[in-house]
Parts: sequence; structure tokens; C-alpha cells
Amino acid sequence: MPTTDNGRAADAWRRLGSAPRPPALRELFATDPARAGRYRFECADLVVDLSKNWIDDSVLDALVSLAEASNVEQRRSAMFAGEGINTTEGRSVLHVALRAPATAVIEVDGRDVILEVQSVLRRMAAFADAVRSGRHLGSTGKPIRTVVNIGIGGSDLGPSMAYEALRAFADGPSCRFVSNVDAADVMSALDGLDPATTLFVVSSKTFTTVETLTNARTAREWVVSSLGGDEAAVARHFVAVSTNRPAVEAFGIDADNMFEFWDWVGGRFSLDSAIGLSLMIAIGPDRFEELLGGMAAVDDHFLSTPLRQNVPVLMALVGVWYRNVCGLPAKAVLPYAHELRRFPAYLQQLDMESNGKSVRLDGSAVARDTAPVIWGEPGTNGQHAFFQLLHQGTTVVPVDFIGFARANAGPAHHQDLLVANLFAQAEALAFGRTADEVRAEGVAADTVAHRVFAGNRPSTMVLAERLTPSVLGQLVALYEHIVFTQGVLWDINSFDQWGVELGKVLAQRIVGELSSSPRSGAAHESAPHDASTAALIDWYRSHRSE
Ligand code: F6P
Repeated sequence: MPTTDNGRAADAWRRLGSAPRPPALRELFATDPARAGRYRFECADLVVDLSKNWIDDSVLDALVSLAEASNVEQRRSAMFAGEGINTTEGRSVLHVALRAPATAVIEVDGRDVILEVQSVLRRMAAFADAVRSGRHLGSTGKPIRTVVNIGIGGSDLGPSMAYEALRAFADGPSCRFVSNVDAADVMSALDGLDPATTLFVVSSKTFTTVETLTNARTAREWVVSSLGGDEAAVARHFVAVSTNRPAVEAFGIDADNMFEFWDWVGGRFSLDSAIGLSLMIAIGPDRFEELLGGMAAVDDHFLSTPLRQNVPVLMALVGVWYRNVCGLPAKAVLPYAHELRRFPAYLQQLDMESNGKSVRLDGSAVARDTAPVIWGEPGTNGQHAFFQLLHQGTTVVPVDFIGFARANAGPAHHQDLLVANLFAQAEALAFGRTADEVRAEGVAADTVAHRVFAGNRPSTMVLAERLTPSVLGQLVALYEHIVFTQGVLWDINSFDQWGVELGKVLAQRIVGELSSSPRSGAAHESAPHDASTAALIDWYRSHRSE
């Protein structure tokens, strides 16, 4: 597999580092009337305006040269061909196979994965239709009214984000999502539900995740005890989504009630696998297919568009420019759509779990910074919270704005106000307000400095006509490919997540010490902790409820 660890890439990084920084956005726009049009791109139904970024043609040329020298195209082909690019786990990375046309052929270990994908999709659709139409009944013969997805990380964030995003298209049973091991989460999800009309979808790629199994056991006890101790009820009220059939069976869910996916689907890339089952039940198989179609359209764009017009590649490159050359440590993603309120949280896992890495593919330390800190909230709420820092703080945070021409519901004037705010924020960030402009408004001299907006704060605008299943799929695939491309440029493995393991191991050890006696000292001798952790454990043991 070609790596980025080559002389050409090193040269391209050097050239990028010495590329002249463009002047401020005010000047760029003043001197180049064609700028807005030149840096406006299309990707499936998405319109992407990159013009308010710190770029000009020479910066873009240097960035595209870096992508070429880093073998982005070859690595992209390797991913789509099913090569084992997740080297530390010895796996292919084939979330793109989940939405590939049924006629495609992608082989892993001599098996055509597309056939398996299509077969699971058909099973999902048949089950979703049965639940939606009332043919799949609960154990007492009542139809299912609520689906509760139990999962965490990629087994929660994708379906829960998408369910909120596509509420306008959800005409099936309503969905709730339980992820946190904090009992408050499962208790509030169960609150007001009738077990006779509730279906639990236990979603876990590994089926070993403590949070998910703990919540699933609590839910199972709730179902069985509420339905008169009827263990047989589990078969009508629980299905599993996993890659781990033996663990599903060991948990007590029949393999017939399991929807499969594969180790070549990363958890954070799994919305379009069987992990999307709850969503499919809510919106129906046809709408789910539209979501997959939107993803496939962006896959096509990513695969076939020259790098200089390739939107995921360009957005990845602009991100690398900020992170590695301009030294900006964060990025905000601000959807101006209330339905996308979980999108920033979804992207946090997608981006930071993928690219929050410090070693390269060959195990050597990375030479440059990797994933930025990703955060965000929907507009306009964020404007009344942290936008102060975006406009006048000392840290420049590049922003991805996302907006739509038409709302899925409600009076049109709300959308006009929402979009006016969206465009106004990008304009204010880019162009600011000078001291002369402030003074010209008659502001008292001693407050002028406080009311100056330096401007030159970069942003990207991603627009679409309406937030449909297809457009949501396009947005998800867009960011997946941005993450992939940046991972290639940084020469890291975007598809493992060893950094989450140590905390899990320590928690397993500590949990046994929280309730066991004797209370102090002795327990820590067998499992030594630092003095701070030992004191915290002691504090908890003396305060916990018995
Ligand atoms: O702990 C991190 C993680 O492994 C994520 O990568 C994953 O999405 C999440 O846990 C849930 O894992 P699973 O689907 O196996 O329960």
C-alpha cells in the first residue's frame, strides 16, 4: 500500500509551509470580484462556498500538490477496493460498500461483501416493514409503538443523530436512544413506556461494551418483570445488531433476531449498516435507501472528481492548512437546522476518534498536529452562547456552517430569519467592523475598541435545498471522506481507536474495588493506585449507597 511517507510528500509539506499567506479576507474580496464564484463548488446536492477561507490559488495549488504527493488517490482506491488499510487491526475499511450499488462487486477474503450487504439490507427492510405495519407483535399481541436503541459511541450517535435530523420523515414507531451507563439515561428512556408495545434494539459491534450490556440487562429485567416473568417475551421485544453472533446468543438473544454487520465497518462509520435499524423502522426502508443513495452520490463525487474540484478533498486540505500551517487547534461545526443538533456530537466521534492520533502508520511519532478539537451547536442558539469568542476571542476557530433553503416544517418566516442569521454570522466573521466604521456610527471613543470586530475569521458554507434523507447521507459521507483524506495526509490509521482502551481496563479494575470490603487501604494493596485515585475510591466507598 502506498504510504505518505515519501520524499515527494516531504517536499510538498515544505512547499506548503513556505507558501505565501494570502492577505486578509477583506482585501481578497476587494481585489478579486470573481472569488466567490471561483471557490464555490458542488458535490451531489451540496453547494459548498470555500471563498471565506484563508486561501488563494497558490495556496490551493500547494495543498492539492500535497494531496497528490501523499497518494490520496491511491489510498482512496485501496479503501474502495477492500484492501486492508486498517493495518493495526488487520481489516479492510468498507463502509462505502454499505451503500454501493447492488451490482457492484467488492471482495474481502474471496467473498463478495456486496451480496452480504444486500442480504442484510433485505432482512432489515422485511423486519422494519413488519414492525411498522403491525405484523411483528409484542408478546401479548400488541403492535410495537416505541423502539429503544441501546448502544453507545458509533452504535448510538449515528442513528440518534439521524433520527433527530429526519424527524419530519419519521412515520413509524417513535424511537428513543439509551447510551450512558448512568441509570438516569435508561430510566428516563423507559419512563412512560408500555413494555408490551416496546421493542429494544441492542446495538453493539463487539457486543462486549459494558455500558450497552448493562443497559440491555436492565431493559430485559424491566420487560420480563413487567410482563409477568415471561422470559419468552424477550424474543418478541429484543433484537440485536452486531458482528459477534456468539456474544449475542450468550446474552440470550436468538441468532434469528440478530442483524449482522462486519468487522470492516468501523463503529463511527456504521450508520449505514444494520446499526441504522432503529432509524429504518422510524423512517421506513425506502427513506433509508434514499439516505444510502445520498452517501453513494458523494462516494461517486469523491472517487471521480479531480482533486482540485473534489469537495471532501478540498475541505480536508483547507482543514490541514489551518491545523498544520496556520496553527489553529479547533474547528466549529454549526448547523443552522435544529434537526441537525446532534450532528456536531456525531462528528466529534467521527473526526476525533478517527484522527486523534500521535503515531503514524509505521509506529513512529507524527511529525505534525492531527485532528483539531471539534465542537458545535446549532444556530441560532450558539450565537447567544459562544459566538462572542468566535468573533472577538484570541483563538481563531474556523467554522463549517451548514444551512438549508427550505425548512421541513413550520412558517417560512422562521427560515428567513434563520438563514439571515446564518449568512450574517459568516459575513461578520469574515469582514468584521473596523474602528473607523465603529466611530462613524457615533460610538463613544472609550468603547470603540470593545466594539471593533477584527474580522478575517474563516468559514466554509455548506448549503442544500432541504434536509432530506438523501442530503443527510451526503453530509455524513462528505465528512467521512474529509476524515479519511486528512488521515492519509497525516499518515495515520484513521480506523483504529486504541486510545479508548486504557480507561476501560482501569474502570473494570476499579469497579470491583468500589463495593468490596475492607473499606480502606487493603483493597488498594492488591490493586495499587496513585494516592489521588486511592483517595477518590475511599471517598466513594464511604459515601455510596449500600
Ligand atoms: O470505546 C469506543 C468504541 O469502541 C467506539 O469506537 C464504538 O463506536 C463504541 O465503543 C461502541 O462499541 P460497540 O458498538 O462495540 O458497542
